[in-house]
Amino acid sequence: MAPTTAPEDGNHPAAGARIVLEHVSRAYGPATVLFDVSFTIGPGELVALTGPSGSGKTTLLQLIGSLDRPSSGTIRVDDTAVECLTHPADFRRDTVGFVFQLHHLLPHLTVEQNAELSLVAAGIPRRERHERVLDLLEEVGLADRADDFPKQLSGGERQRVAIARALAGRPRLVLADEPTGALDTGTSARIWELLLDLRARHNTTLLVASHDLTLLEHADRELRLVDGRLLPSSSPTPVSELT
Ligand SMILES: Nc1ncnc2c1ncn2[C@@H]1O[C@H](COP(=O)(O)OP(=O)(O)O)[C@@H](O)[C@H]1O
Ligand SMILES: [Mg+2]
Repeated sequence: MAPTTAPEDGNHPAAGARIVLEHVSRAYGPATVLFDVSFTIGPGELVALTGPSGSGKTTLLQLIGSLDRPSSGTIRVDDTAVECLTHPADFRRDTVGFVFQLHHLLPHLTVEQNAELSLVAAGIPRRERHERVLDLLEEVGLADRADDFPKQLSGGERQRVAIARALAGRPRLVLADEPTGALDTGTSARIWELLLDLRARHNTTLLVASHDLTLLEHADRELRLVDGRLLPSSSPTPVSELT
């Protein structure tokens, strides 16, 4: 393996992203689904985003990930004003890894090809892509499945590929939307272990929508949404207390 692909190499970001939301609201026509949401998440924090179905969790993740725009308010990810981006796809490629409840793997591509998609988009040469993706597949325990197609994998294995894909671009921020929602308890535990391990080694900032108790045990904090509002009990850590 070339030394430049080791996880601890100099190219890997030393710290996760800082997220700052101020007075973020989102309305779809007359229906407001997020009301005046403000919080700060520090680099390397693991934050659980909880709340009943329909409370706005997915909307919030999409706003932070630049897949959607707020009706008002500001969203900063490090120095980037996310709501003002003219090229949000570049921001997503360079900064964010998404993990969805359903893995969204492309059925006609192999495990390796799925995992390297963002690297193709980033123009990373084939050899480096191969090395980086094989390292990641090793991390998620699927190195021997690189040439298989998604239909040959179990649900948990597919979700591990989706995590490898989300991490391939070495994002400073991972946004996960109920990543274990479609998995059984044992498989979920394996996914959480993986995310925790990745955070421990790469200090990635993780914002994860989930009700899974395993996540709540390990999260630094819980942000709880009810009817589009952040509950006061999950009020933000003052910026001065964050490193
Ligand atoms: N594109 C959309 N158009 C209209 N309403 C939407 C749209 N997306 C989400 N909503 C509404 O916003 C609310 C929050 O949805 P969502 O963020 O998906 O909640 P959660 O992920 O917590 O279940 C729901 O009432 C949903 O119906
Ligand atoms: Mg949702």
